[in-house]
Amino acid sequence: MIQLASRVTQVTPSLTLAITAKAKEMKAQGIDVCSFSSGEPDFDTPQHIKEAAASALAQGKTKYGPVAGEPGLRQAIAKKLNHDNRLNYNAENIIVTNGGKHSLYNLMVALIETGDEVIIPAPYWLSYPEMVKLAEGIPVIVDTTSETDYKITPEQLRQAITPKTKLFVLNSPSNPTGTVYNPDEIKALAQVIVDHDLWVVSDEIYEKILYDGVEHISIGSLGEKIFQRTLISNGFAKSYSMTGWRMGYLAGPEPLIKAISTVQSHSTSNVCTFAQYGAIAALESPDSPPCLQTMLDAFTQRRQVILERIRAIPQLSCPTPMGAFYVFIDISQTGLNSLEFCDGLLEKQQVAAIPGKAFGADNCIRLSYATDLESIEKGMDRIETFVNQL
Ligand SMILES: Cc1ncc(COP(=O)(O)O)c(C=O)c1O
Repeated sequence: MIQLASRVTQVTPSLTLAITAKAKEMKAQGIDVCSFSSGEPDFDTPQHIKEAAASALAQGKTKYGPVAGEPGLRQAIAKKLNHDNRLNYNAENIIVTNGGKHSLYNLMVALIETGDEVIIPAPYWLSYPEMVKLAEGIPVIVDTTSETDYKITPEQLRQAITPKTKLFVLNSPSNPTGTVYNPDEIKALAQVIVDHDLWVVSDEIYEKILYDGVEHISIGSLGEKIFQRTLISNGFAKSYSMTGWRMGYLAGPEPLIKAISTVQSHSTSNVCTFAQYGAIAALESPDSPPCLQTMLDAFTQRRQVILERIRAIPQLSCPTPMGAFYVFIDISQTGLNSLEFCDGLLEKQQVAAIPGKAFGADNCIRLSYATDLESIEKGMDRIETFVNQL
């Protein structure tokens, strides 16, 4: 029998990817599946971004490049962080990675020592605890509830800190809950982080997907002390519909970025060279904001429809998501746990949803509304039938 490394055997595979794959497989067999599982916009990558990458490809940008990224892209990212997020970074503070997931993974490997504790509010994006475990750290999960809109309070954060705490993971707007912290809440968390001399990684991948006029605020913009303790993880997947491009980045103090470059130089080398030119166009082209707006208009309409449908089912409830493209539904009143609910729903009604257990909340399920209105209506009809037949 093969003796796998314990760091690997402790880790669970991504349930989101598994369920999405299962739904795709059922569709390929001709089964009429309604899928709410996917964490990706259902829009194609904007044409101008594709053209920029295609042109770079035609020009022979097909060789190895600098490990930390093409200089033009690192500069464009630094400019974006200064302009959009009021974060004072230079190109040297940026490393381009194979997606936001990879930037977070690299960070854990470079920062976390065996036994270091990393505080993660639940519900959480399912990869955070697994990445911490892969780096031989200890994920410390702090449960939040819908009463606080799934936000960790400064008191909760303070109570979770021990001498071994190294890092706090902040994700606003959040996957899976869609919650967005307001400036006062971020400021209060920043104070705790500064007081206890921790690091914070701010995963800002959904920063541009916001509703009802709420604003995204980057924790590192709140003053020099917190800026010195902040790492920013972001990527192109969600805002520019570039999931398959695998294009992300991490920003932080130069010594850390250098250390991550070293890790990357022995693992993945540079990110696909010509794809990086597509990312430059995403950040710099005047054609990008209108494409984002089209996507946001569609998400806004779908959010309204899906919320109305959920609220018409007495056994289901959920807060209004203020960002990202997910609804996180409390199913406690159905008497089922999240795996029973999602298994039954897929089997009996051919609707794919993600069990909240994967996000640390077994009383909830996640639906993604990054799918067309017709599928939302059809899927919600089926969910209603499923719940009524319980
Ligand atoms: C909260 C969060 N962070 C990071 C990522 C990583 O995105 P990618 O690796 O596709 O850039 C995702 C993707 O689903 C996410 O939901």
